[in-house]
Amino acid sequence: MQKYDVTKTAIKTFSQPEHEIALQTNDLHVYYGDHEQIKGVALQFERYKISAIIGPSGSGKSTYLRALNRMNDEIQSAKVTGSIMYRDLDVNSPQVDVYEMRKHIGMVFQRPNPFAKSIYDNIAFALRRHGTKKKAALDEIVEKTLQQAGLWKEVKDSLSKSALALSGGQQQRLCIARALALKPDILLLDEPASALDPISTSVVEDTLTQLKKDYTLIVVTHNMQQAARISDYTAFFYDGYALEYGATNQIFTQPELKATNDYISGHFG
Ligand SMILES: Nc1ncnc2c1ncn2[C@@H]1O[C@H](COP(=O)(O)OP(=O)(O)O)[C@@H](O)[C@H]1O
Ligand SMILES: [Mg+2]
Repeated sequence: MQKYDVTKTAIKTFSQPEHEIALQTNDLHVYYGDHEQIKGVALQFERYKISAIIGPSGSGKSTYLRALNRMNDEIQSAKVTGSIMYRDLDVNSPQVDVYEMRKHIGMVFQRPNPFAKSIYDNIAFALRRHGTKKKAALDEIVEKTLQQAGLWKEVKDSLSKSALALSGGQQQRLCIARALALKPDILLLDEPASALDPISTSVVEDTLTQLKKDYTLIVVTHNMQQAARISDYTAFFYDGYALEYGATNQIFTQPELKATNDYISGHFG
């Protein structure tokens, strides 16, 4: 049941040419069977920025994020319409090589899911599969991505130890390093810190802030303080709509819509 007028949606696109767009959805709909869960979302994500997606539980944040690199393909009942433009490719087109596309648009999940392998092999595994076999090249990428993920100093002397022996926060940073190893352009993160304690959360947030130098990040979070701390732009999702989108500072201090204001001030969610 909708409490708010969903027809009054605010600015969702950037008009200024200085904003380089890394990814853009147009009239994106996601259906689970007959149920329409995402209802025509048009959003642009700026390159080398962090965009946060916030909104109440069940508003469709994860469904939308999963659409961006075709993770919904794995859900039988899910159907996605509309376009997802990445460079001049429509990610949603049936011609797209999904495996190849996901090297460019990677994903990190809510629960850290390292492989039951060594720290080193968690990163090297996919690289080997993609054809990097030389030890020197693997060593270099393992070190570089662990540095980028803010984990190198903690693990450089224990690369052969099992990843499962790491703390939750370290495991999540390892999963970020693993995603970075394939040199993605865009990284999608679904509540990447929600399973972590406050200290690990803060370390992961710092890591994400560092990463935007080289990557475009789209982060789903139910933690509004987190969105306010780390993101440049925030989209507020409500009942399958991207109701309001803009600079994070503006969304959190002067939202245009009553729904956004009620949500950020804790009236529902
Ligand atoms: N695999 C699925 N099959 C059917 N319905 C689903 C599935 N995943 C999510 N949904 C439906 O979509 C709604 C929105 O879910 P989700 O995108 O996970 O929202 P959020 O991440 O904002 O909490 C859920 O309440 C559920 O009804
Ligand atoms: Mg979710």
